[in-house]
Amino acid sequence: MLDKMKLGIIGCGNISGAYFEGARKTDVLEIKACADINMDAANKQADRFDCHATSVDQLLADSEIELVVNLTIPKAHAEIGLKALAANKHTYSEKPFAVDIDSGHKLKETAARQNLRIGCAPDTFLGAGIQTARKQVDSNVIGQPIAGSAFMCGHGHENWHSNPAFYYDIGGGPMMDMGPYYITALVNILGPIKRVAAVTTKAFEERIATSEKAYGLRIPVNTTTHLTGILEFVNGTIITMIMSFDMWSHGLPCIELYGTDGSIKVPDPNGFGGSVQVAQARGDWAEIPLEFPQNARIIGLIDMVRAIRNDRPHRVSGDLAYHVLEAMLAFDKSSQTAQHIRIESNVERPIPLPVGLKEWEVED
Ligand SMILES: NC(=O)c1ccc[n+]([C@@H]2O[C@H](COP(=O)([O-])OP(=O)(O)OC[C@H]3O[C@@H](n4cnc5c(N)ncnc54)[C@H](O)[C@@H]3O)[C@@H](O)[C@H]2O)c1
Repeated sequence: MLDKMKLGIIGCGNISGAYFEGARKTDVLEIKACADINMDAANKQADRFDCHATSVDQLLADSEIELVVNLTIPKAHAEIGLKALAANKHTYSEKPFAVDIDSGHKLKETAARQNLRIGCAPDTFLGAGIQTARKQVDSNVIGQPIAGSAFMCGHGHENWHSNPAFYYDIGGGPMMDMGPYYITALVNILGPIKRVAAVTTKAFEERIATSEKAYGLRIPVNTTTHLTGILEFVNGTIITMIMSFDMWSHGLPCIELYGTDGSIKVPDPNGFGGSVQVAQARGDWAEIPLEFPQNARIIGLIDMVRAIRNDRPHRVSGDLAYHVLEAMLAFDKSSQTAQHIRIESNVERPIPLPVGLKEWEVED
């Protein structure tokens, strides 16, 4: 049996409950402490989940804590990540990895220099839906992938989120918010990205929150909110992508891939299960049974902890998150410069999960 790893959570907002609850489902993690710049938020989660609320500095000074889980808002990810690395702790962050390429690079390089692990959400690609879709593509069921589509369209989060302003600030918008799910799933299936061309815009200068806790809050929009682009993968696949917070309704699929021998419908990469369907040549769509346990959020963190203990690579790696960040930022860069943007970083596809695992289980 592996030694439990003691974790500290920084950022006790909306998503933190999923991490506290997830940690109870595994015997490899123990959340020792939690912190937030808003001490009320930290106290609330500490009471609810029976851990210790501290200041950020106290948490970082605790030598028993080996890994910091960074659930702050996007703009704070790099600052908190670098502080955790400076305190000699492995770090796992919510997405996006960072909000600009320089801080993403600094995070990756600092972790490598200090021989510490850095990981980042999303881990939805370790769910049954995306793993099953990858297995179909790897087994050549659709032949050589040629093209595909990836669409995430909606009208933003100000109708439900208690603190929706960050979704319209630098590091927000549909690409930095939802792009990590879509692009990580695509890289997991197709491999690294070669270049990006895009046109991006925003339809509204201001959003007005209608969620209960933020009702009436006027939010300036400091990011693009409708991004249309093309990703060319190193393996030659061309993906058409729309990421939008400016569309009320639509009839577009999440992800579809088109190959030389057939097509595949890949389920919503913002979930762990879903329906995988394949149509070969001129045949009808057929449902493919999911071959893996569904899993849920923090499976990537469990994989990372097991990887650290067993000295093997972890799947939700900083290299993968950095490659995805570079591709996401390339959309606005391409639009501003009217150029294709070459993606400089390279990444190996994460190792697929083996079949036969149980829920919440990852191989050592
Ligand atoms: N809410 C969701 O459904 C959801 C889902 C998936 C991923 N995420 C991601 O999780 C992250 C957090 O989202 P959320 O919805 O929980 O946001 P939130 O605003 O509800 O919570 C963020 C918390 O971080 C704290 N914080 C901000 N800056 C800090 C700093 N410098 N030091 C310490 N604490 C700080 C805030 O006080 C707040 O309590 C984001 O990156 C988001 O993209 C959210």
